[in-house]
This record gives sequence, structure tokens and C-alpha cells, in this order.
Amino acid sequence: MTRRRLAPRAVRTVVLLFGVLFLATSCGWSLWDNPMTTVRPRSDFARWIDDMFMLISWTTLAIFILVEGALLYCCWRFRERPGAPIPKQVHGHTPLEISWTIAFAVVLLIIGIPTIRIIFKTQEAPAATALRVDVAGKQWWWEFKYPGLNVTTANELHLPVGQTVAFHLYAPDVIHSFWIPVLGGKRDVVPHRVNHIVLTPEVPGEYPGQCAEYCGMSHANMRFRVIVHAKGEFEQWVKAQQAPPVESTDPLAQQGKEIFGKSACVGCHTLAGVSLGHIGPDLTHFASRTTFAGSLMRTTPENLVKWIENPDHMKPGARMPNLGMTGEQSRALAAYLLSLK
Ligand code: CUA
Repeated sequence: MTRRRLAPRAVRTVVLLFGVLFLATSCGWSLWDNPMTTVRPRSDFARWIDDMFMLISWTTLAIFILVEGALLYCCWRFRERPGAPIPKQVHGHTPLEISWTIAFAVVLLIIGIPTIRIIFKTQEAPAATALRVDVAGKQWWWEFKYPGLNVTTANELHLPVGQTVAFHLYAPDVIHSFWIPVLGGKRDVVPHRVNHIVLTPEVPGEYPGQCAEYCGMSHANMRFRVIVHAKGEFEQWVKAQQAPPVESTDPLAQQGKEIFGKSACVGCHTLAGVSLGHIGPDLTHFASRTTFAGSLMRTTPENLVKWIENPDHMKPGARMPNLGMTGEQSRALAAYLLSLK
């Protein structure tokens, strides 16, 4: 008997398929090239969910291999051949039926018991020592308030490592969803009710967050950054936020302050010692944030000028109106805001 050789085309197809499989599975394996991954947990909450995910994945992989193996074996063993007898029929085989009913019940228990445990664990009330953060999802940016510390910020959430945080989530306008892939979520942020997430960040670093519920034109632009501070650094950040803003004596910045005070800006923004608006983000320490407008843009003079002159162009549907500021005026405003460390 001569052995049939595999056609080169078949070899190429198999190699290509394995290549694609290898590339596809390597996606999301490191935080460096995929910061939105959910399989590199950085909090207790995310770790519990990831453990569940892994348990279910491995269990179902084992089932897949068993079932496919049995199927392939039967296809080969009982394949049609000239003169082959009809295999023994097992229809109505009581011991077989009892054993696979039990086997499936065991699989359901393996998945069900830890799932129910995790559901209750992630709904537990926080300890009294937890750091409370009130999160407001707004079209299209995030407000973070620390009621115990008297600090309000926007789009950049600062947390201390190893400290349990109790998030109170609410939405003044439409439904959003709070999601920091490596720390936890998603949890809906719903008008007329307060939802909760309790978690403890375990590794210092900067992690991206994103609104995960379609909420209108700039839903995709409703991002935020999470900065988990190493021990001791969070207190420094809080102290800086609690202090009055440091203003520069630069004439352009001073001119900007005057424009700010006389314009419609004051109706929407809080700026300690200057204005008390509540529609837009608190600008008291605007320059301490590295991004703005739903964490969409880096905080640079060029971006800020563009934003002031045409917010809707930068973030479609933006609630911030175009106040008709141009040239010198917008540059002065930007200089003032960038002085507010
Ligand atoms: Cu907020 Cu999508």
C-alpha cells in the first residue's frame, strides 16, 4: 500500500489556521498592549470574577474535549464500510441515561455553587472604614466626589492601593455604565437610584475606564482614567486637591480669570473662590488633571483652545456651549485654567 502524502495546500491551510489561532489567543494577554483586558485583574473584585471565568472556561474546555473526542472516536470506529455489521444500539439504556444525568448535575454544581457565592460576595455592604466615592455618570463625562474628604474631581479617579473603596453610582441624566476593566464593573449607573460597587485595588498603576452603556452621541468619548496610588501618595494628592488653587501671576492668565468671571462659564462650573455652577466639571484644580472632556484629550494649551472655541467639534453633542470665544480670549482662558494646579 502506498501512503498518500498531504497536499502542500492542505499543509499551508493548517499552518495558517494555527497561526491565526495563536495570534487570536495571544490578544489581551498583557496589560501593556491591551489596557482594557479583563483577564489581568488588579483588584479583589476583578480577581473573583476572573477566577470564575477561568473555572468555567477550563471546565467547559474539558467537557468539549471529552464530547468531541467521543464523537470523533465513534465516527471513526463505526464508520460505514462494505459489509460492516450494524453497531449495537443503546437506545433506552438505563444505566447510561442515569450516569449522564448525574454527570450534568455535577457540572451544574461545579459552576453554580461558586457563581452564587461570588454574586453574594460582590453585593456585600462595605466596611465602615471603606473610602466612599460618589460617581456621577453624565453626558458625557464622569464626576468623582469624595464626601469624606471634601474633594470633587472629573474624569480622573484617584484611589489608594490596598484600601477598600465603596462606589455610590448615580446618573443625573440617562443610563450609563461604570467599567474599569482591570478593577471591576460593569455596573449600570441609573437615574433615580444608587448602585454600588465595593472593591479593593491591589496594584498601583494607571488604568483606563469607559462608559459601557450606550448613552447618546458621545458615548464612546465618555472615558476616564483611574490612578491607583502607591502607599502614602494618595494622601498627598488629597492634600493638594483640598488646598485652594495656585494661580499664576502671568498677565495672560489674569486676563483669562477676568474673562471667566464675566462669562457664562460661571453658570456651569464650580471654581473655588470664583463660581458655583454645577452642570459642568469642577475646575478648581483643572491643571492637576492630565486629560479633560471625558478624558478624551490631553490637557495642553492647544487642545484647550480648540475645545473652548468649538466644543462640539472636539466632542460631538458636548453640553458645553460655544461661547464665541476666539483668539486672544480663548488663549487667555486656557492660560488661566492651566495655571490651576
Ligand atoms: Cu455614558 Cu455611555
